[in-house]
Amino acid sequence: VKTTIETTTLSAQLAVVFEQLVRQRRATPHFSDEPVPAHILDEAFTLAAQAPSGYNLQPWRFLTLRTAESRAALRRAAYDQTKITEAPVVIIAFATRSGWKSTADEILHEKFQRLGLGEAGVEKIKQMAFQFVASLTEPVWLNRQTMIAFTYLMLAIESLGWDTAPMEGFDSMAVKSTFSLPDDTDVVALLAVGRALEPKTPYPGRLAISQFVFDERYGKPWRKSSDES
Ligand SMILES: Cc1cc2nc3c(=O)[nH]c(=O)nc-3n(C[C@H](O)[C@H](O)[C@H](O)COP(=O)(O)O)c2cc1C
Repeated sequence: VKTTIETTTLSAQLAVVFEQLVRQRRATPHFSDEPVPAHILDEAFTLAAQAPSGYNLQPWRFLTLRTAESRAALRRAAYDQTKITEAPVVIIAFATRSGWKSTADEILHEKFQRLGLGEAGVEKIKQMAFQFVASLTEPVWLNRQTMIAFTYLMLAIESLGWDTAPMEGFDSMAVKSTFSLPDDTDVVALLAVGRALEPKTPYPGRLAISQFVFDERYGKPWRKSSDES
């Protein structure tokens, strides 16, 4: 009974904390020059690593820029967005087509070991995973996975008390050549991290859930249970 009560309490607390986290987050337009401690980034990357991915293949990679020079170079490849040089940290989220294949063995061996399964199954699952990904449009697959880790990272940083700005406004080829990323990489998004300059951006609003959630068939809007009379 004690466990149930504690679990319920923790779950209620988590719901409140998560709601606060997602509702207070804004895409930060301007940052102060207050430095972000390295341990905040350590913690945020550790949490981002917990993101789920297809076959647990974790194809995301992150390049962290902290020097003024590297951020100035990135700004030139990102439509001159001022927040890139204002924020003390900017993270380039990307994916590599060869990289995820080279970490697949390690990932699958760890899983099989943790689950107490025979090593023999690793190769079979690996072939299945590779075949499945090959049946998809690979950049779409890479993007899908990487955005989940990116979102975990953004929310982790926000939960640690810092502000973020996600960005898709960049020239992918220019970012790749500026930072010598290999040809087989896809730059997915940028994340500026730091302390927001006040006043923070106002909430821009969202679609009502009845506009983007459907119930049983496309076109039948989801109705909140509280709307039922
Ligand atoms: C993937 C992604 C890319 C974005 N790219 C840019 C960008 O390049 N420049 C920018 O100023 N804002 C960018 N934004 C911020 C959005 O404009 C912002 O999230 C949206 O207007 C909603 O505002 P909110 O995040 O404060 O709720 C991006 C957001 C996301 C999620």
